[in-house]
Amino acid sequence: MLSTLSLLTPLLVVPTCTAFPFGFFEDSAAPTGRSFGFNSQAQYVNVTGPHAYVAPGPGDERGPCPGLNSLANHNFIPHNGIVSFLGAIDASVTVYGLAVEGSTFAAALALFGADLISPDLQFSIGGPSPSFLGFGGILGSPTGLSYTHNQFESDSSATRGDFYQFNNNGHDLQVNYFQELYDLQPASPAANYNKSVIFKHRVRRFNQSIFENPYFFYGPVEMLVSSLTHCLIYALMSNHSTEYPDGILSNDILKSLYGISTASGQLVYTRGTERIPDNWNRRPLGDDYGAVHIIADVVELWQFAPQLLLVGGNTHGVNTYAPLDIANFTNGVYSAATLLDRNNAACFVFQATRLLVPDALNSLQDLVMVLVQKVVDAVEGMLAVLTCPELTGVNQAMLEHYPGYKRTNRPV
Ligand code: HEM
Ligand SMILES: *[C@@H]1O[C@H](CO)[C@@H](O)[C@H](O)[C@H]1NC(C)=O
Ligand SMILES: *[C@@H]1O[C@H](CO)[C@@H](O)[C@H](O)[C@H]1NC(C)=O
Ligand SMILES: *[C@@H]1O[C@H](CO)[C@@H](O)[C@H](O)[C@H]1NC(C)=O
Ligand SMILES: *[C@@H]1O[C@H](CO)[C@@H](O)[C@H](O)[C@H]1NC(C)=O
Ligand SMILES: *[C@@H]1O[C@H](CO)[C@@H](O)[C@H](O)[C@H]1NC(C)=O
Repeated sequence: MLSTLSLLTPLLVVPTCTAFPFGFFEDSAAPTGRSFGFNSQAQYVNVTGPHAYVAPGPGDERGPCPGLNSLANHNFIPHNGIVSFLGAIDASVTVYGLAVEGSTFAAALALFGADLISPDLQFSIGGPSPSFLGFGGILGSPTGLSYTHNQFESDSSATRGDFYQFNNNGHDLQVNYFQELYDLQPASPAANYNKSVIFKHRVRRFNQSIFENPYFFYGPVEMLVSSLTHCLIYALMSNHSTEYPDGILSNDILKSLYGISTASGQLVYTRGTERIPDNWNRRPLGDDYGAVHIIADVVELWQFAPQLLLVGGNTHGVNTYAPLDIANFTNGVYSAATLLDRNNAACFVFQATRLLVPDALNSLQDLVMVLVQKVVDAVEGMLAVLTCPELTGVNQAMLEHYPGYKRTNRPV
């Protein structure tokens, strides 16, 4: 059994560093910082008229992603929550400023829940939809995003419960997790759920999964997804203005975009009611949240809390977290120590994702090759800004050690 102390030990060996400790972007364009200013006309998201908020009705799918749920509630994607691969990318780019390569990466992983025989690769942003007669070619009928556990949907999310801990529900918000995030800022106009605040919350959620979820599994894909989706909160939900060109994420905006209201002083979650507030301004155009920002942010997160680099899982109950032997897993290309070096951790998780996705599918029929190719292309899009050591294979069998991995319903 690994105690909390040994879990946190790597903290002690990390040198204290200042800006870009890993030499990130030494030889390429650095993130350009604050040169975008604020353009009211371009950044204003008009949620009146055709894009007015309409709560989901019976039969409308909503799921684990507050971004997609809000896009559906405002008719930026179909209100029934069934969206095509390109439709999801387009709306994410246009409304939220998630860059094409970031949106494409997300949409590619979403194909795990998609109807792969539909020509435009449709998927449900929530659960399985009766509107799909076809089949996914993976697990039978298309599951929708809500049931892509350990393919996309992952444990230790910011506000969603862990799948097995909440009776196969990894898609609904658990109000106590939201409350803990909410309580990190004052209930006043001074509140700003910025990067520092979200990083603190992320560390706590990781620790909670270790202490509360006997089936906690945190493999390379899960590590990447849970790190990245935490970053989307401050990166994409903040409101931009002349005074705050880098954005402010207030109490009210956070609640609105998470489907939370207040009744008699209590926070109340109403599933599927994520709403873009009136007078909300997105990230600057031309400064979309893409590979350069994403990699800088996740590397900064892992530097802030190096225990998040210890991919692994609980092995026999709560608080039995055992990290994976990275050296063995990668045939010596990486090790726990070298993951802290420059961009190695970012290289490792994207490369491992590319290698694990075909393995997770096992049977490479024509139908699922579409998915594999989309993921491979999407990973290339993210890795294009990095120079990485070559990783040709991983020892996937080592993951069988973790009950949370083994338990996931995998196709054979
Ligand atoms: C192609 C587009 C997208 C897809 C397929 C997608 C899919 C997902 C999925 C499957 C999750 C759950 C991951 C987990 O279990 O941790 C998630 C979480 C999340 N997504 Fe998206 N997403 C997309 C775009 C967006 C956009 C545009 C936003 C903008 C705000 C967004 C914000 C978030 C946030 C904040 C979470 C974390 C939720 C939480 O646990 O609190 N996503 N997304
Ligand atoms: C928002 O959209 C509505 C309806 O399409 C339009 O009447 C209104 O002028 C738009 N508002 C702004 C500020 O662009
Ligand atoms: C986030 O806000 C806090 C104040 O609540 C501030 O101390 C911190 O520097 C901010 N972090 C960033 C990354 O701006
Ligand atoms: C992790 O969570 C446990 C149980 O909730 C708590 O006792 C412990 O103090 C936490 N540790 C850290 C480092 O947050
Ligand atoms: C966004 O910021 C502007 C400028 O401070 C403000 O007028 C507007 O109300 C804010 N929007 C939200 C949803 O808080
Ligand atoms: C790697 O793991 C395999 C089995 O999982 C084991 O047989 C082998 O000894 C390990 N090698 C190293 C270098 O740890």
